[in-house]
Amino acid sequence: MKIESSKLHFSVGKSKGSHYKIFHIFKEDAKKHFKKKYSSIVDEKIFSGDAGQQLLLHAEKIIYIGLGEKAKFQPRKLASSYIKLGEQLIKWKEVGLEIHIDSSLSEKISPDAMVYHISTSLSIGAFPVDLLSKSYRERKITPGNIYFVLENQKDEDLAKKGLRKSNVVSRHVNGTRHIQHLPANYFTPEEFVSRSKEIASENKLRITVFDEDRLKKEKFGGILAVCEGSDKKPKMIILEYNPAGSNRQKKLALIGKGLTFDAGGISIKPAGEMHEMKYDMSGAAVAIHTIAAIAELGLKIPVIAAIGVAENMPDAAAIKPGDVYTAYNGITVEVQNTDAEGRLVLGDVISYVCKKYQPEYMIDLATLTGAVIVALGHEAAGLLCNSPEFTEQIKKAALTSEDRVWELPLWEEYGEDLKSDIADIRNITGGKGGGTLSAAQFLSRFVEGDVKWAHLDIAGTAWRGKASGTQCNGPTGYGIRLLVDLAETLSREK
Ligand code: BES
Ligand code: ZN
Ligand code: ZN
Repeated sequence: MKIESSKLHFSVGKSKGSHYKIFHIFKEDAKKHFKKKYSSIVDEKIFSGDAGQQLLLHAEKIIYIGLGEKAKFQPRKLASSYIKLGEQLIKWKEVGLEIHIDSSLSEKISPDAMVYHISTSLSIGAFPVDLLSKSYRERKITPGNIYFVLENQKDEDLAKKGLRKSNVVSRHVNGTRHIQHLPANYFTPEEFVSRSKEIASENKLRITVFDEDRLKKEKFGGILAVCEGSDKKPKMIILEYNPAGSNRQKKLALIGKGLTFDAGGISIKPAGEMHEMKYDMSGAAVAIHTIAAIAELGLKIPVIAAIGVAENMPDAAAIKPGDVYTAYNGITVEVQNTDAEGRLVLGDVISYVCKKYQPEYMIDLATLTGAVIVALGHEAAGLLCNSPEFTEQIKKAALTSEDRVWELPLWEEYGEDLKSDIADIRNITGGKGGGTLSAAQFLSRFVEGDVKWAHLDIAGTAWRGKASGTQCNGPTGYGIRLLVDLAETLSREK
């Protein structure tokens, strides 16, 4: 399954053709800028330089983008303007852009970060997700090229660096969005294998696919329990990236929840929003596309991506509330609610990865609980971590990437109620509240050794109904930008 690529082409330097020029304006400079020719633009409040505002002067072929007040400048607001512009761009035939990056901006944001955010946002905005429609198939528009114009050689070099990163990262953000959005009858566990193979062959990664027989042989009781009600066979897929010259002790493991559909099983979900559960594979999609981006960027850090893939359906053969299974690590689990299935899959993958690879760092990504949406909406992923230093590194990467995280407590007390009267543990707690926290406690029972482990609950950020900041509407590919920035930091550690 080939990975989709963007129709936009970016470069640094002046354009040759006749392109629309883009200028950025802070709010306090707007009046002065338009003073002579267009004072009415500011006076009549058509454009005042507010963050996110856009003014298009077709006769002059100029687009102004507002940056808001200097003191309050936020890259995420800039990104949001460019996502919108990207959406417009794919409706225009061969309209190229010449984006001017003024060096006065470098006080606020370095040219490489600016170019990175702008080009990634344009690519995200310009990537259509009406994948299965006639208009998608028949769309023949070729958007024009995009040039970044900077004021000196040093800034140009930085811009090129930002662009190199963006070309890789945006392809994988969009690749993730593409598979997130494909429905469960298109993107099956088998398709996950095919996508992973494509990623492995593009980047010369080692790939191991555990099929149902192997999962049975090696006693992956959690993954097997989840898929019993489905006619789709479960998988565990592992990709490995071992760059020359990296410190093998500093391995980063990315674990992903890959439920290609979550009907809830016998504890069936209400019909209203069940269709959204095609996104329940987002964590796994992000894990495999992140390792691809890290490898393509040549970051000097060994990484493995391990994903558990299954479909959760109700059926005569499905696991029933009250059933008990034995997990990969040997503990017995009473499944009181078959809709709390992600933790069953992740538990097995986590304990396998700890045992086989003993990574220094491990991050799991999962659309694990509706409760994280109650707590944080769609703005930030819930971050629960067993190491204060690792927490800080992740938060720093969240600031530079603008994939937001918010720390939640990983306190053992939230797991006290995971006791079962028949098995070692049960998969839900009795009471209401704190569902994200008890889910993380469940996962913590499968973490072995002294790995620095973080759990990211991406149920809210993987998909959203409204664009905001660097995140687009619909499937977002949330997590790729965060983890690439984190891997950059970790790769610089000795
Ligand atoms: N995949 C869902 C979580 C989810 C909900 C993701 C909404 C995205 C949007 C998960 O498998 C689930 O159903 N969790 C249950 C757990 C509960 C039964 C303890 C939930 O959150 O309701
Ligand atoms: Zn569920
Ligand atoms: Zn689920």
